[in-house]
Amino acid sequence: MEQKLLKASMKIGNHLTTYVCGPGAMEQWKGETGDVVIVSNIIDELFPEKVEKIERTMHIIVNDGESAKSMESYNDLCTKLMELGMGRDNTLWYLGGGTIGDLTGFVASTFKRGVGFSAIPTTFLSQIDSAIGGKNGINISSTKNMVGTFRNPDIILSDTEFIQGNASIIMDGLPEAIKHGFALNNNIIEFLEQTEPEKIISGEKLPEFIMMNAMAKGEICNMDPEERGETRFLLNFGHTVGHGIEAATHNAISHGTAVLMGMRMEMLVASEIEGPIAGDPLAKLDHIVEKYNLKIPKLKQNILEDAWTYMARDKKILRGEIHIPVIERSGNIRIRKIELDTLKPIYWKVLGTLSS
Ligand SMILES: NC(=O)c1ccc[n+]([C@@H]2O[C@H](COP(=O)([O-])OP(=O)(O)OC[C@H]3O[C@@H](n4cnc5c(N)ncnc54)[C@H](O)[C@@H]3O)[C@@H](O)[C@H]2O)c1
Repeated sequence: MEQKLLKASMKIGNHLTTYVCGPGAMEQWKGETGDVVIVSNIIDELFPEKVEKIERTMHIIVNDGESAKSMESYNDLCTKLMELGMGRDNTLWYLGGGTIGDLTGFVASTFKRGVGFSAIPTTFLSQIDSAIGGKNGINISSTKNMVGTFRNPDIILSDTEFIQGNASIIMDGLPEAIKHGFALNNNIIEFLEQTEPEKIISGEKLPEFIMMNAMAKGEICNMDPEERGETRFLLNFGHTVGHGIEAATHNAISHGTAVLMGMRMEMLVASEIEGPIAGDPLAKLDHIVEKYNLKIPKLKQNILEDAWTYMARDKKILRGEIHIPVIERSGNIRIRKIELDTLKPIYWKVLGTLSS
């Protein structure tokens, strides 16, 4: 059965983004003369029939992966856009995952002090997360996203044909969807509990699931479009501990797995601080992890101790207080400041559940 495209307007600050999602969403793409599309080399290889559709417009192939978010790629891209004569009235598009998106957004917002910007994200993570909210940037030395701007795309075309049937690309981004559910919208958790994984992976239930996530992220970004306050910090649920684990294992644990472990740990910390959590979100998390066959490996005690050391150096620690998202019930989280000295024994107490 042919699926209809889902379409919605997303307001983030003063900016309106048109978000289109479903199989073949890319067919909505209409490049104007002078527009340029930045294409991931992997997408060029894997989906030649899709890339063909944009060949009548100027396009530049970029080798993707984290190394694309560099000053060298930025310089190369701007030089090529100058050679192509791209004007301020043209739009720069990207066709690729989050890394190509972060690079392209930064170029679009700075080249000639800003040209048009639109997106065709091709990973599950970029469709539900990185394409939304306007953050972009490149890495300086080994520090991620050190330089960047806020710039929301005018149009996002999330074409599910890029990801349907690809379990690994969907499972890679699933932890961020689970995070959206616990932090922002319990409907996402209910959906995950009630839907067979195969229906998401095959594509049958994928567009509505992506749409729920994209809108939840858009809504929270709209409350604080340029991250002046703490609202967007809710999106950090699982990341305080998660980043510590990634750093302590030198990225041997993937970002998604570290976020899953981080959410579990932060739920345990919340219940230690505030007592039992309504609706037992930890049981829901464990159920989803099992149902979707996500793996939470056990870590050596010394790795978890190192993770604490990294956490304690977090740049968000002010006057000895760390800001952590505390879950009140599934779909509802608030930020709490807690002194590191108070948190440390609690972290140590719950550490056992993640260690081997
Ligand atoms: N701007 C934001 O708000 C935000 C939010 C979250 C993450 N990010 C950034 O996003 C990046 C991660 O994004 P990502 O997970 O999309 O990674 P990615 O762009 O590196 O893509 C992962 C891999 O998948 C490949 N790929 C892309 N589309 C594919 C497809 N349809 N089929 C098969 N392979 C495909 C890519 O070539 C790459 O090798 C990080 O740099 C992270 O910092 C940004």
